[in-house]
Amino acid sequence: MSDSAYQDDRGNKDRSITKPGGSTTQTVRKGGKAVPANSRAFLIGEAMTGGYGKGPDILHSCTIAVDPGEIAVIVGPNGAGKSTAMKAMFGMLDVRSGHVMLDGEDITALTPQDRVIKGMGFVPQTHNIFTSMTVEENLEMGAFIRRDDFRDTMTKVYDLFPILKEKRNQPAGELSGGQRQQVAVGRALMTQPKVLMLDEPTAGVSPIVMDELFDRIIEVARTGIPILMVEQNARQALEIADKAYVLVQGANAHTGTGKELLADDEVRRSFLGG
Ligand SMILES: Nc1ncnc2c1ncn2[C@@H]1O[C@H](COP(=O)(O)OP(=O)(O)OP(=O)(O)O)[C@@H](O)[C@H]1O
Ligand SMILES: [Mg+2]
Repeated sequence: MSDSAYQDDRGNKDRSITKPGGSTTQTVRKGGKAVPANSRAFLIGEAMTGGYGKGPDILHSCTIAVDPGEIAVIVGPNGAGKSTAMKAMFGMLDVRSGHVMLDGEDITALTPQDRVIKGMGFVPQTHNIFTSMTVEENLEMGAFIRRDDFRDTMTKVYDLFPILKEKRNQPAGELSGGQRQQVAVGRALMTQPKVLMLDEPTAGVSPIVMDELFDRIIEVARTGIPILMVEQNARQALEIADKAYVLVQGANAHTGTGKELLADDEVRRSFLGG
């Protein structure tokens, strides 16, 4: 669909679906000044150590960061702690040491809901839509923190994912896997996030649908929203990653640009099947 508002934005820096404050760090960078004190990246989980409840540590001094204009990708084996790292950054996990910074502010102590208000959008790996509600009701639920008129944002979500407009009155549970993931991403966009976190957005979809979803995610990134994403399709994810992390047993094993990790012999052998 070439008439999509997002596609029309291709290549320019329109941030109409981001919050007005969403470009602060970019402004700082544009001026060539150092990043604000005690903030190394726009969103960073720094040296995060922690686990579930009173259980053992799952994350061991794990660091994940993303900056405006970037797609950052986390890959790694099953059970490596990728989802746990995302949950830690979103406030769903007790971080016993380390901290989470958003746009120069320490948000380690904030609840997930307060982080949404600060501008974090999160699409969890599972249970990320309301199956009995219609597509449009899901998007409305996404806008729960907003007091202003969100119809314009909904129009933009429908431009990004035209199939959702077609199916807007259908229960989301009746949609295909790829369409459900579009609902989940669309719901997160309804808050006009300053940063979008996606946990395995292409889980269980065909390669063609995966490519389409990646294309849409790239479009969102081009509107100025930094994206932090966990992906099981490691090779394809690294191809689009500005920054990439391989996690193993809750710790950083490899970090670099997507290209660097794709070219790294050890990463290829251990995680990409040679
Ligand atoms: N709610 C929970 N309570 C206790 N332990 C958990 C919980 N969720 C995950 N774990 C444990 O934390 C570890 C890391 O799990 P996590 O889901 O973060 O891995 P992952 O890298 O996302 O794996 P996958 O690729 O399968 O999604 C695993 O040992 C898992 O059993
Ligand atoms: Mg996971």
